[in-house]
Amino acid sequence: MLLKSLGTLSAEERKSAGQAINAAKQDVESALDLRRADLALARMEARLAEEALDVTLPGRGRGRGGLHPISRTWRRIEEIFGSIGFEVADGPEIETDWHNFTALNNPENHPARSMQDTFYVDLDDEHGKPLLLRTHTSPMQVRYARMHKPPIKVIAPGRTYRVDSDATHSPMFHQVEGLWIDEDISFADLKGVYVDFLRRFFESDDMQVRFRPSYFPFTEPSAEIDLQFASGPLKDRWLELSGAGQVHPQVVRNFGLDPERYIGFAFGSGLERLTMLRYGIDDLRLFFDGDLRFLRQFS
Ligand code: DAH
Repeated sequence: MLLKSLGTLSAEERKSAGQAINAAKQDVESALDLRRADLALARMEARLAEEALDVTLPGRGRGRGGLHPISRTWRRIEEIFGSIGFEVADGPEIETDWHNFTALNNPENHPARSMQDTFYVDLDDEHGKPLLLRTHTSPMQVRYARMHKPPIKVIAPGRTYRVDSDATHSPMFHQVEGLWIDEDISFADLKGVYVDFLRRFFESDDMQVRFRPSYFPFTEPSAEIDLQFASGPLKDRWLELSGAGQVHPQVVRNFGLDPERYIGFAFGSGLERLTMLRYGIDDLRLFFDGDLRFLRQFS
């Protein structure tokens, strides 16, 4: 504006006015430059402060993770039984009706077969019977025995499924099956093996083990194995641990073996139960919530 109005001035006035205008313009520009430099410096200092790196701090590291308590129990069981000569076998979680029920001497109308307890799969086996999610690890007795010659000495840990869900039941849970078949394996062997397992699993001799008469279609006689600690928070309470028994002659026949010659025992124990007792955990759902505050305590 001022520069444009210079034309209206006389030559003399124009010269001095021009100089004054130019001086003012230079003042403004240098003030702007100064301010720009100040701002740039302030920004740089702020960034330096913000991104300051203390190279003397220890590294953050990466969490190493840890084994799930059920996996720990699973491994311990394999180790303990492995050390006394048991093989470890693995089998399908989707089973046939025959392996899960019929071969184990379950009558056709047994309630465990009903829709309420068993998850059925939308597929039939070769006999037109629906496949199912195994309700226990016991079908592994049949699968393993039909593929191996005696002596048969095996455990089969794994996932099992039932239509059940509350503080003490989960639709997916874990069992370990045990089977020892030979010409002279008795109930005394079952007692010896299982009591030894419990002592080693709980790292204590301070317990009583009870074999309480029970019923399972695939064993005769059958027993429920109960445990009582002599000290600690669970002292003097009988805790149910496992089903067991002498394998039923009909089941031995279904193994493809002669029950007149071969005899032995089986057991089936819950891994959740064993884990809860070992660590003093009172709610089964903690195993499946994935809460790191719980899981971290085991790593
Ligand atoms: N399969 C049984 C269940 O899930 C447990 C069981 C009982 C397994 C007796 C065995 C046995 O091998 O002999 O309830």
